[in-house]
Amino acid sequence: MIYIKNILYPLYNIFLFKIYKLNLCIHMSNYSRYIWFNGKLTNFENAKIHVLSHCIHYGSAVFEGIKCYDTDNGPAIFKLKEHMERLHKSANAFKIKIPFDVNTLCEATKELVRKNEVKDCYLRPIAYYGFDTLGVHPKKCPVEVSIATLNWGAYVSKDALEKGARITISPWKKYKSNAFPSSTKASGPYLNSMLAVQDAKSRGFDEALLLNEDNTVAEGSGQNIFLIKNNVFYTNDQTSNILLGITRSTLFELIEELGYKYKVQNISQDDLFSADEVFYCGSASEVTPIKQIDNHKVGNGKSGLLTLKLQEKYYNIVRGKEEKYFKWLSFISD
Ligand SMILES: Cc1ncc(COP(=O)(O)O)c(C=O)c1O
Repeated sequence: MIYIKNILYPLYNIFLFKIYKLNLCIHMSNYSRYIWFNGKLTNFENAKIHVLSHCIHYGSAVFEGIKCYDTDNGPAIFKLKEHMERLHKSANAFKIKIPFDVNTLCEATKELVRKNEVKDCYLRPIAYYGFDTLGVHPKKCPVEVSIATLNWGAYVSKDALEKGARITISPWKKYKSNAFPSSTKASGPYLNSMLAVQDAKSRGFDEALLLNEDNTVAEGSGQNIFLIKNNVFYTNDQTSNILLGITRSTLFELIEELGYKYKVQNISQDDLFSADEVFYCGSASEVTPIKQIDNHKVGNGKSGLLTLKLQEKYYNIVRGKEEKYFKWLSFISD
C-alpha cells in the first residue's frame, strides 16, 4: 500500500504542476511577455511590487488605457503622447512625481510593443507609490512606473459594438469633483466604477451609467456618453464630474468632419430618454452604440445609423486608413 502511494503521489504532483503551467501559459498569452518596469524591460514573472506598497492600501496610483492597432504600416499607437501627457497631469494632481518624462514613456511604450511582438493590443501604463510608509501621507514612498501590453478585444463586447449595448442607470452616484478630481485617471476612485459595473452585470446589463447627485448624467464606468437628437451630437463636460476622455475630444473633430454639429452641455435624464441615438466612447470601448437603457429602447432599439457612421470613421483612422490622421498615430517602426 505504502509502495503504491509512494509512486502515485509524485505522479499526481507532476500532473498538477503540468496543469498549473498550462494555465499560466494560457493566462500569460493574454498579457505582456515583457513588462516595462521602472525603466527596464523585464519578464512578466518579475514585474512584482511589495504588499506594503502605498498604492495597494490607498489606491495611490494613476494610469492610462491606450490602444495599439495593426495598420498597413505596422502596429501604431493611437494618441500616445496625449495619453502620456494626461498620465503626467493626473500624477501632478496627487504630487506623484513620475521619474520619466513624456517622451521617455512614449519611446518605452513603442519599444515594449516591438519586444512583445504584438499588433492589436491594449496598453496599460501605471505610476504608483511603492513602499516606504503605511501612513496615508506618502512621505518618501518611491514612485514606480510600469507599462504592460494586453490582448483585449472589444471592451463591452463584440456584439455590443455591432448591435448596441444594454445599459442600466446605476444606484451608485458618481463622486463629485470637489471630493475627488474626476478629470484625473487615478486608481482609487475606480472602486466607484467597479461597484456600478458589478451591479449592472449582476442585473444582466452590459454596462452601467452613473448619474450625479442632482440626477444629471455623468458617464459610464469607463466611458464618456454622447447622445444624438435631430442630427446634433450632445455630450457633457467636467462640470458633470467626468473624465475628459481623449476619445471624446477626438470625436469632436470627426463629428465636424462628417458635417454635423456638437454641443457640450449638462445632460438630463429627459435628454437621454428623448434622444434618437446614444453611444459610449473611450479608448477601450471605442464607439459603442447603446440600444437600451433599463426598459427604455433607444430610437428603434438598434445601433443608431449616425453612431455607426462615426464608429466607421473612428476605425478607419485608428487603423491607419486615412493618411490625414497619421498625426494621431505613433507607428512603432518609427
Ligand atoms: C470613467 C471614464 N470616463 C471616460 C473614459 C474615456 O476616456 P478616454 O477616451 O480618454 O479613454 C474612461 C476611459 O478610460 C473612463 O475610465
